[in-house]
Amino acid sequence: MKHFLEFKDFSREEHEHLFTRTKILKHRFKNYIPYQPLTDRMLAMVFEKSSTRTRVSFEAGIYQLGGQAINLDSQSTQLGRSEPIEDTARVISRMVDLVMIRTFEQEKVERFAEHSRVPVINGLTNEYHPCQVLADVFTFVEQRGSISGKTVAWIGDANNMSYTWLQAARVLDFKLHVATPAGYAMKSQRGEQLDTQYLEVFTDPMQAAKGAHIVTTDVWTSMGFEAETENRKKAFADFSVDAEMMAVADKDVLFMHCLPAHRGEEVTEEVLEGPQSVVWEEAENRLHVQKALMEYLLLGKINS
Ligand code: CP
Ligand code: NVA
Repeated sequence: MKHFLEFKDFSREEHEHLFTRTKILKHRFKNYIPYQPLTDRMLAMVFEKSSTRTRVSFEAGIYQLGGQAINLDSQSTQLGRSEPIEDTARVISRMVDLVMIRTFEQEKVERFAEHSRVPVINGLTNEYHPCQVLADVFTFVEQRGSISGKTVAWIGDANNMSYTWLQAARVLDFKLHVATPAGYAMKSQRGEQLDTQYLEVFTDPMQAAKGAHIVTTDVWTSMGFEAETENRKKAFADFSVDAEMMAVADKDVLFMHCLPAHRGEEVTEEVLEGPQSVVWEEAENRLHVQKALMEYLLLGKINS
């Protein structure tokens, strides 16, 4: 049994399989061709943080594949009344076929997975957001071809998205440029090295964006860090992706943002709504990549 808790849980070959399947499943969806290999399968979704895209894409996705979803949160379940995550995992996983969790510490999804009888998907933690980077890389592959050997520029906060991009760079062999304000740099977390083979760190975001094939950013304050919002607004003021920054990137650059976006903070309205922006495609592709992911976790490699 496999889980998808971090991007690096899958090999390059497995990610490439997912991209191939995503293309097929997206084509079927767009052409109203029914494909329901997960009839009667049940997905439990556990949300300990807010969500729009993750909630809708998983729920619509499992339904389109023939299955159903149950939506759980900490307020209305016993999780909010301190039932241990291990006990919750043992109970839920006896009743459903697949679990997606959005929570705070990565360690919590790991403990859930250790006690689960069914595959577990990370729907965002403080440390990683693998489903989003899966959709982002697919979006690049769909529009520009292989990401291998390309350069991705990450501008702003060293957060769950940037650490997932770094894992993707290692697995899929591309270069990550990261520009963060002083005091908010990437750290070696969970024993992972910040190896210069895949990561180049910059203080000037313009330098990081130079020649990049993807320029991407995210909110200055991630969920769970709201108490730092005012300090972060000051620290990140020079880390807004604007037209000038996009102009130094590769001529075929794509702008990406996992959304929700704060226009006028991490990105200007002009860039977010401009011709290089693929943010709406990225959001849509969450649906398609996660359908391929659920198919893979439950049925293995399908080629039909
Ligand atoms: N990008 C993303 O995960 O969005 P939601 O928080 O709306 O799920
Ligand atoms: N880094 C953001 C991503 C939201 C989808 C957060 O964790 O809040």
